[in-house]
Amino acid sequence: MDQIVSHIQIDSDEFLENRKQYLELLDKHHDILSRVMRGGPSHAIDKHRARGKLLARERIDMLVDPHTPFLELNTLAAYGQHHDGFPSAGIVTGIGVIHGREAVIIANDATVKGGTYIKETIRKHIRAQEIAMQNHLPCVYMVDSGGVFLPEQARVFPDKDDFGRIFYNQARLSAMGCPQISIVMGSCTAGGAYVPAMSDETIIVKNQGTIFIGGPPLVKAATGEEVTPEELGGADVHTSKSGVADHLAENDQHAITICRSIFETLQPTERQPLERLPAEEPAYRPEELYGIIHSNPKKQTNPYEIIARLVDGSRFHEFKARYATTLVTGFAHIMGYPVGIIANNGVLFAESSLKGTHFIQLCNFRKIPILFLQNITGFMVGKAYENAGLARDGAKLVHAVANANVPKITVITGGSFGAGNYAMAGRAFDPHFLFMWPNSRIAVMGGEQAANVLAQVKIDQLKAAGKEVNTEEIEKMRAGIRAKYEEESSAWYSSSRLWDDGIIEPLQTRQVVAMAISVSLNKKFEEPRSGVYRM
Ligand code: COA
Repeated sequence: MDQIVSHIQIDSDEFLENRKQYLELLDKHHDILSRVMRGGPSHAIDKHRARGKLLARERIDMLVDPHTPFLELNTLAAYGQHHDGFPSAGIVTGIGVIHGREAVIIANDATVKGGTYIKETIRKHIRAQEIAMQNHLPCVYMVDSGGVFLPEQARVFPDKDDFGRIFYNQARLSAMGCPQISIVMGSCTAGGAYVPAMSDETIIVKNQGTIFIGGPPLVKAATGEEVTPEELGGADVHTSKSGVADHLAENDQHAITICRSIFETLQPTERQPLERLPAEEPAYRPEELYGIIHSNPKKQTNPYEIIARLVDGSRFHEFKARYATTLVTGFAHIMGYPVGIIANNGVLFAESSLKGTHFIQLCNFRKIPILFLQNITGFMVGKAYENAGLARDGAKLVHAVANANVPKITVITGGSFGAGNYAMAGRAFDPHFLFMWPNSRIAVMGGEQAANVLAQVKIDQLKAAGKEVNTEEIEKMRAGIRAKYEEESSAWYSSSRLWDDGIIEPLQTRQVVAMAISVSLNKKFEEPRSGVYRM
């Protein structure tokens, strides 16, 4: 494979200005992250520790194999919502290695409103289970939760992807052969009781864990019976009388040791073979990405310069280099794993769609995972393109993306707008993982375009009604739409609502993509297939 030749001048004014702005953006991002990762308010953390309990992230650190990374997902869920009262939506999820086996870990953070579930908590829990399903992974639930956050009940209880889906998923995962293991480290009340009850194997911590469908206050109100939490559903009761739990642990540490011991009993799954080469650093320094990514989002960042700083040895076997150049396709390795890369270099045309479709077929038949580097304003518009059948050829790419039989990993490196989002494996196209860089933006279209479209519609309406067009009013309307789009298209806004699996920094991308590929190999790839391509 040839090495990409970079044309970047690292002492140019443009490079230095981009770099300065990116580092400022990262400072802001780190500040948000460190606030969020502290968890609940300090009085709740003190109370939690005084009970001899570890914090959610400490529990995870202890569960995973020493010196292995934990890929935390959706850290910024619920950020900027609910008066910032639910850091990380009160739950920590991610993928870690336990006794050599990649596993999904879901840990309630009881310092955040008693570990209760709001909409984003449920979405995050269910998303982690989806990842387990798609990649055939075991799940460990570190349970410490008061169940549904009751004031939000109408938003979290009745619908298909609401609270109940968690238990449905556990049953399905168990049936698929993905072991479900619970460690009850605090309360599991009402519906929450089903997390341990639906697990293949359950551990409960003495004088700390409780499991009951109705807590003592509910029992008193319903039947008049007076009972303590321990008598109703403590660790002793559940490991000796009810049999709801299988193992009694002395404390958090002991419970984690038992969980690791359960992992020793799991048999390995059949992994998808994928020839891995020794990992190699890119020939160009990844730090240079900060000077390469344009601080002005209207300027196209050169995808070759990005690829050169993400792939091993900066080597890239480009496919159709001279054809449909607004879509860059080719093969490379990331930390030794083979990968097919599809990256935007401008708007999508009919021929870019055909090139992308062809390349996805190559990846399907060669069984090579695909990395989408998404930076797209959309498809080319205009009479000539529509008349030539742009929608028909665009549909081929959308088909190919939807039906790809190999893992898709999407990283939004810049803009993600309109139908371009779909064609480049946006969330609706079920990529195995979707991450955003902090500078990236996502919306149906740019703020400027939306402001122009809506202003034009308004002007046409007024004219049709024979009314006068007030330019000042129209300008005010435009400004309002621009501001709204500006806020709603940021990576933080997206991550808060779980439109992605998390914000990753450009320098973390190699490691995260390599982990994502490794995780995806837990499930054998299917055989290539495609729908009907309109010709
Ligand atoms: N809905 C809404 N808020 C809840 C809640 C629930 N289900 N459970 C706890 N909270 C809130 C509390 O009001 C408190 O809020 P505050 O910090 O603003 O005052 C915070 O979570 C912590 O609760 P607290 O009781 O002080 O903490 P704790 O660690 O001593 O106890 C629980 C935590 C979860 C064991 C306990 O609050 C409890 O039993 N909650 C009710 C659980 C229940 O019946 N759930 C049924 C839902 S399906």
